[in-house]
Amino acid sequence: MESALPAAGFLYWVGAGTVAYLTLRISYSLFMAFRVWGLGHEAGVGPELGEWAVVTGSTDGIGKSYAKELAKRGMKIVLISRSQDKLNQVSSEIREKFKVETRTIAVDFASEDIYDKIKASLAGLQIGVLVNNVGMSYQHPEYFLEIPNLDDTIKKLLLINVLSVCKMTQLVLPGMVERSKGVILNMSSATGMAPVPLLTIYSASKAFVDFFSQCLHEEYKSKGIFVQSVLPFFVATNMTRIRKPSLQAPSSDTFVKSAMKTVGLKSRTNGYFVHSLVGSIVSILPSWLYFKIAMNHNKSFRAHCQKRAKKN
Ligand SMILES: NC(=O)c1ccc[n+]([C@@H]2O[C@H](COP(=O)([O-])OP(=O)(O)OC[C@H]3O[C@@H](n4cnc5c(N)ncnc54)[C@H](OP(=O)(O)O)[C@@H]3O)[C@@H](O)[C@H]2O)c1
Repeated sequence: MESALPAAGFLYWVGAGTVAYLTLRISYSLFMAFRVWGLGHEAGVGPELGEWAVVTGSTDGIGKSYAKELAKRGMKIVLISRSQDKLNQVSSEIREKFKVETRTIAVDFASEDIYDKIKASLAGLQIGVLVNNVGMSYQHPEYFLEIPNLDDTIKKLLLINVLSVCKMTQLVLPGMVERSKGVILNMSSATGMAPVPLLTIYSASKAFVDFFSQCLHEEYKSKGIFVQSVLPFFVATNMTRIRKPSLQAPSSDTFVKSAMKTVGLKSRTNGYFVHSLVGSIVSILPSWLYFKIAMNHNKSFRAHCQKRAKKN
């Protein structure tokens, strides 16, 4: 009996400490959520960082929305995508609507030898914001060995999703460091937060972007550079083939407006309140349950896509 008492006292303090720790953590999370999603944070991203913003994959979807949002804040925009026609169209749309200067660079990030051309086109520009947005995924979830044109897909996914982020950063970061200011927004994905089977290469490439961004932020934050890893769930774009925006899959404009409020506050974000809620739930699931749900979801989506392909 005597020897049980000190143990009971110890357990009491462990319990009280745990409750206090969890209360503090939950209060801090709620406070941060209110600060980010409730109050917002509009200051800080604009020409004061440097007059130009560079956006890769900027003629559609999330990239186009970032380009418009940055132009709205008065930044001059460099648009980079493959198709010169689409670049011209988006470029004049932005110039007319936001009265800012634009430039275009037509390159395919599936090639390795494009960076000298990009470097030459960016020479002399004061770049305050870089959005590493370009990315590709599979047509539909698929087992690794059954991915159509596997060799080509491996290469393209690594060049477009991974190499582009490193090389664009290598080109733009030195100017930011020299001026001690700048923002780099890297488009990872919720598939980079937790591994997604049947999207193996895509998911792994987005985990690379997430780690790259987190490390780069730690390395350069004391030099005035803010690097953000953006990890969205579904957004209604060409890539997802979701045509009708909804609460869970917002339009790219809604997503970007929301994500911009987190710049300067969060170096890692799902970018949108509903995605952030889903992200919190995913992060507390036991991994066996998470994998079961992810695998079942992607298996049935794969079967649905195969059926649709057979019909057509
Ligand atoms: N949509 C989502 O639900 C979602 C979720 C998580 C993460 N993300 C990430 O967000 C980013 C943008 O996705 P999105 O859905 O907005 O894509 P999207 O609507 O398909 O737009 C892709 C943009 O990139 C350009 N592009 C595509 N391949 C290119 C290449 N090889 N070289 C140069 N430009 C290229 C396209 O223009 P051209 O065809 O003219 O080249 C287009 O402007 C990607 O990194 C994606 O992984 C998206």
